[in-house]
Amino acid sequence: MAQKGSHPRRPGFRTILSEAEVRSTVRELAAAITQDHPHGEPLVVVAVLKGALVFLADLIRHLLMPLEIELVNARSYQGSRRQPVVEILDDVAELRLSGRHVLLLDCVLDSGHTLAALREAISAQSPASLKTCVLLRKERPGAVLAGKRDSSVPIEPEYVGVEIPDLFVVGYGLDHGNLWRHLPYIAELPAHPVRSPCSSVGEDP
Ligand code: IMP
Ligand code: MG
Repeated sequence: MAQKGSHPRRPGFRTILSEAEVRSTVRELAAAITQDHPHGEPLVVVAVLKGALVFLADLIRHLLMPLEIELVNARSYQGSRRQPVVEILDDVAELRLSGRHVLLLDCVLDSGHTLAALREAISAQSPASLKTCVLLRKERPGAVLAGKRDSSVPIEPEYVGVEIPDLFVVGYGLDHGNLWRHLPYIAELPAHPVRSPCSSVGEDP
């Protein structure tokens, strides 16, 4: 039998959000989304792969309106002069979101560039409404000094589960090198050398 600390589900990482906390946060988000949504109208949930997969699977089981799911692949990496570059790898125009109520979903908001780029692409389809939901939002210390969240966070999601410290985290769909997505809780990856998205050149975000 595997020793504590080496078990794939208990790698000994520091827990940031326990399984129970994840579960109750997801339920609260679903309740808020349901309350705001126009009664009986269909909702299209657009989830960002691969990080939002587990969150998507849990959240939709608490949503009761007619619901469709779309998946988009996005990749972010450090561009020239330290500007993050976001590549949307799917053609958002093909999703036919015009006149639809859309909920854009990601597991974590870090710099905000991924969701900002996706919001722009979805807005260009003229949806009836567009809201954004994240399970986690990283607190950016620079933002407090500047008197606002962070000049590099060009997005304010309508639904935020919890604020977490500005750490690199894994689990519940979030990875490092495509590992640890299966952890049922959110944990700090120890001694991660570079913050996301700078570390993910050519890698799934
Ligand atoms: P952004 O910086 O908000 O654009 O986040 C880009 C993407 O990086 C997110 O969609 C996540 O997939 C990934 N990401 C950001 N922070 C973390 C983290 O702490 N752990 C794992 N993936 C992350
Ligand atoms: Mg990743």
